[in-house]
Amino acid sequence: MSKIEDVEKGFYTWERRENMVNLALKNVSYTYKNAPKPAVSGISYQFEEGRVYAIVGPSGSGKSTLLSLLAGLDLPTDGEVVFDGESLAGLNLDRYRRESISMIFQAFHLFPLLTVMENVCFPMELCGITPKDAKPRAQALLEGVGITKEQMNRFPSKLSGGERQRVAIARSLASSAKIILGDEPTGNLDGANTQNIIDILCSLAHEKGYCVIIVTHDLEVARAADVALRMRDGELREGIVSGEDSK
Ligand SMILES: Nc1ncnc2c1ncn2[C@@H]1O[C@H](COP(=O)(O)OP(=O)(O)OP(=O)(O)O)[C@@H](O)[C@H]1O
Ligand SMILES: [Mg+2]
Repeated sequence: MSKIEDVEKGFYTWERRENMVNLALKNVSYTYKNAPKPAVSGISYQFEEGRVYAIVGPSGSGKSTLLSLLAGLDLPTDGEVVFDGESLAGLNLDRYRRESISMIFQAFHLFPLLTVMENVCFPMELCGITPKDAKPRAQALLEGVGITKEQMNRFPSKLSGGERQRVAIARSLASSAKIILGDEPTGNLDGANTQNIIDILCSLAHEKGYCVIIVTHDLEVARAADVALRMRDGELREGIVSGEDSK
């Protein structure tokens, strides 16, 4: 597979940002309304550009909650998330989500009334790229994740679960944001497609300076990451990935 080169074509005109991606958690806690204890509890951590981070941990340990705080979908109930030196609490969160973050959700959130191609073009057009320029980039990104030209003209409902997931990944890569957040991005994929997505995410981090943070139960994905983080009872630690973490 020469999929990475295909994805590279999709990026050929993006400007490389000069300043470092700087995303940090400062003593961050989050307690859901009426919950007996915090889902995320006193986490401090600094994420750096050029690295792939995998977050593993048991169900209910707070992984998705942490990701939604990093994505600015919610603000911490205590502490702060700091992006490029500014607390998210003081930023325009719509703009932060649109321009600084690409999110690969577990439920793919593809637009059902747009074709696969239109789904991937959409975020680029939101950023002011003309349809004429957006289309070849979308095609390269989709080919990079193994979607055929014929499939690009279908509606998402006419694809398999794994194909939909790959379209969602291509769409998230279409944005120019340098931070990629994924909640089980390879959850529906077979071994070969999972490996391809790992290769794409690693090359974006190592060659283009992206910061990739993914929640995963897949030990292969966690082992391929530069940094493995473990969550347990709302707390985060750096650690070695073991069989325990897939539970
Ligand atoms: N909207 C909500 N309201 C109240 N409690 C919630 C809500 N969403 C999650 N929780 C609780 O917060 C805790 C952390 O949930 P979270 O979804 O972050 O876990 P997770 O590590 O992503 O789990 P999984 O691996 O099952 O996806 C759990 O105890 C969960 O029950
Ligand atoms: Mg979750």
